[in-house]
Amino acid sequence: MWTAKKLVDAYLRFFKEKGHSILPSSSLVPENDPTVLFTTAGMHPLVPYLLGQPHPQGKRLADNQKCIRTGDIDEIGDSSHLTFFFMLGNWSLGDYFKKEAIEWSFEFLTDKKWLGLDKNRISVTCFEGDSDAPKDKESAAIWEKAGIPKKRIYFFPKEDNWWGPAGKTGPCGPDTEIFFDTGKKACGKDCRPGCGCGKYFEIWNDVFMQYKKTAEGKFEPLAQQNVDTGMGVERTIAMLQDKTTVYETEMFKPIMEKIKEISKAYNEKSARIIADHIRSVCFVLAEGKGIVPSNVEHGYVLRRLIRRAVRHGRLLGIEGIFCKEIAKKVVDIYKEDWSELAENSGLVFKEIEAEEEKFGKVLKQGIKMFEKYFKKAGTINANDAFLLYQSFGFPLEMTVEMAAEKGIEVDKKAFEKEFKKHQELSRKATVGKFKSGLADNSETAVRMHTATHLLHSALRKVLGDHVQQKGSNITPERIRFDFSNPGKVSKEQLAEVEKLVNKAIDAKIEVKREEKSLKEAKKEGALAFFDAKYAPEKVSVYTIGNASKEVCAGPHVKNTSELGHLRIKKEESVSAGVRRIKAVLE
Ligand code: ALA
Repeated sequence: MWTAKKLVDAYLRFFKEKGHSILPSSSLVPENDPTVLFTTAGMHPLVPYLLGQPHPQGKRLADNQKCIRTGDIDEIGDSSHLTFFFMLGNWSLGDYFKKEAIEWSFEFLTDKKWLGLDKNRISVTCFEGDSDAPKDKESAAIWEKAGIPKKRIYFFPKEDNWWGPAGKTGPCGPDTEIFFDTGKKACGKDCRPGCGCGKYFEIWNDVFMQYKKTAEGKFEPLAQQNVDTGMGVERTIAMLQDKTTVYETEMFKPIMEKIKEISKAYNEKSARIIADHIRSVCFVLAEGKGIVPSNVEHGYVLRRLIRRAVRHGRLLGIEGIFCKEIAKKVVDIYKEDWSELAENSGLVFKEIEAEEEKFGKVLKQGIKMFEKYFKKAGTINANDAFLLYQSFGFPLEMTVEMAAEKGIEVDKKAFEKEFKKHQELSRKATVGKFKSGLADNSETAVRMHTATHLLHSALRKVLGDHVQQKGSNITPERIRFDFSNPGKVSKEQLAEVEKLVNKAIDAKIEVKREEKSLKEAKKEGALAFFDAKYAPEKVSVYTIGNASKEVCAGPHVKNTSELGHLRIKKEESVSAGVRRIKAVLE
């Protein structure tokens, strides 16, 4: 029988045979990209390479990437959407293009040697063309030649068959999406791929990234023609096992069974929301990046997911603390392949339980208050929503959801305005990031990334070689750098670190990139903290004179003179033995 593990192995083996280097999954929290909170697709960590920077592993890459898509949160409960999922992907960086990408997709899906799916149940969609780019007849012709008849090849506009940039600028292009017929009855005459009824599962997307959207909204041809694909593991395994939802496979079954067992008034939708949300939270917490439930940015996403799960638990008649029990199932299922879950399970359970306890105490009262507001006015207004947040910690989106359950439509924009007015939450950036997704690799981010390397090595020079990077995150406003150190860093030490970094900046040093083996890089003293299991054969090493030498994917500025001046704003504790510095470039 097919299992998710078998599918992942087969996929990576298939693309290895086709000359691809296999990469490890990147972190769910992008380190040097301020444009999104979470990695939303396999292509995300590869943006610099899609734009032309050479990748040390070559022009053909493949991986199994952990992804989070908060944009899909309202769809959770249907048969196929998830806030967290695994995306298998293969990439061509200016190497092969449409013909190979489509032929290989078809071969992998239908060949008995590989997945052996019935080609008569496959439909595909292609880009219908507009003033920015022509109709993708080429892809359609390749599909037809491979064995998909014309009647199952559909042409759709940009909103369906164009991928990226999720933000304002960046690589993008037409795509061809691959759907598998679950065998469910069509919901009506117009039921076709893309219909939300659950008959057609979108399992794979081949994107032909040959354009770059500019800040002026123009689509310019890229110097190289890339392929970017994404196959959903949960969806594909459901199809291979002849299921009609992702919740029936081994990736979810023990979780769903546990929820059913502890429910007093079971409903499938609430159970799916709990299963999906707790699974997402487990994977984010397990990365140990210092992200815990809070009111801002990544932490707010965790908070929102846990609190929503808790409320849906109440809808199932579960009264006590229960999320940890669900999290245990998640850890059990995935710990073998994702060792971070085994290593950090203590932290995962602790944070989930603390957040549930905090919220569980006030939830009942909050619901009472919600009912009171509703009874009085027959609706819920923005001010009510804010009070529910302030007094009972109801995430805005939860109040909106509860209102919708009463048949009330609320003006989300007015709600958000009210929240901003109260300035309690600096959620502006968070909300913006949920929506904008990928923007360009902004110059500011690149500058801050280079400054992070200087900061890292300066900390080691001042505090000692025990200092290791534990996490790094950049927003347009600031650098955040987490590192190991037993105690507080003194004012004098911070001043010394700042001085060292600025000395390197003022010295106008060239930033050099070289490719070499990891062994060689380490021998030369380059900083490299890799999980041995994933150590790549060839890496990029960035050298900044004598100031820094680090293995890194880039990108970086050409010369430190581009950086300005670094100022450390804050030094604080994250957890036992881990400190955090926030700094800005002025
Ligand atoms: N980046 C493409 C997607 O996420 C493959 O669908």
